[in-house]
Amino acid sequence: MATTGFETTQACVFDAYGTLFDVHSAVGRYRNQLGEAADTVSALWRTKQLEYTWLRSLMGAHADFWQVTGEALDYALDSSGIGDDPLRDNLMQAYLELKAYPEVKGVLRQLRDAGMKAAILSNGSPRMLESAVQGAGIEDLLDASLSVEPVGIYKPDPRVYELAVKHLRVDAGNISFMSSNAWDAAGAAHYGFRVAWVNRFGQRPERLPAGPHAELSTLAELPGLLGYQ
Ligand code: LAC
Repeated sequence: MATTGFETTQACVFDAYGTLFDVHSAVGRYRNQLGEAADTVSALWRTKQLEYTWLRSLMGAHADFWQVTGEALDYALDSSGIGDDPLRDNLMQAYLELKAYPEVKGVLRQLRDAGMKAAILSNGSPRMLESAVQGAGIEDLLDASLSVEPVGIYKPDPRVYELAVKHLRVDAGNISFMSSNAWDAAGAAHYGFRVAWVNRFGQRPERLPAGPHAELSTLAELPGLLGYQ
């Protein structure tokens, strides 16, 4: 078998939003109410949410991911001319109950059975992560859900990736990091993790200073990458 570098993995660390949890499942629940604007609102919500994390990090004006997610939703709804407070509240509530992608639980169970450490490392606030993890029923399959909140800055700041090294007590080079967000994959690779980009959306590679070491279409391919199959 070809050497990929993933064989030396001592801990698997996952991005949350877009990687384990389907961010578009929130709007999906209110598709009827949003009508034709649904997909535009969902895409703009996500885009603005990420832009605001980067901008706040550069400005030195951190606010937690719950606030940023709400502000991004306000922008997205406003852009589609929607001023519906109950719908806004329902969409935020739905963000606490995002669906996990179908393969997630089985893959985490496989890692656990193999004795592999597994954790989330996410922009999400502790409350958001706890809610998503409980909703997906994966709390027993994770060693930790690490939020950026202790460092008060967002990905791809290296201090965020460092949280996983410190908490898990595993060297960066022995941590495999999985993200569907190509820019996060780049940030994690630049930091020193072994990175698999979960290219769920068939995107083109980013042009950034570092890139992933492997590309998967879903997390179902992760056990094979680690040499378990
Ligand atoms: C996260 C975002 C980047 O979970 O999806 O950190």
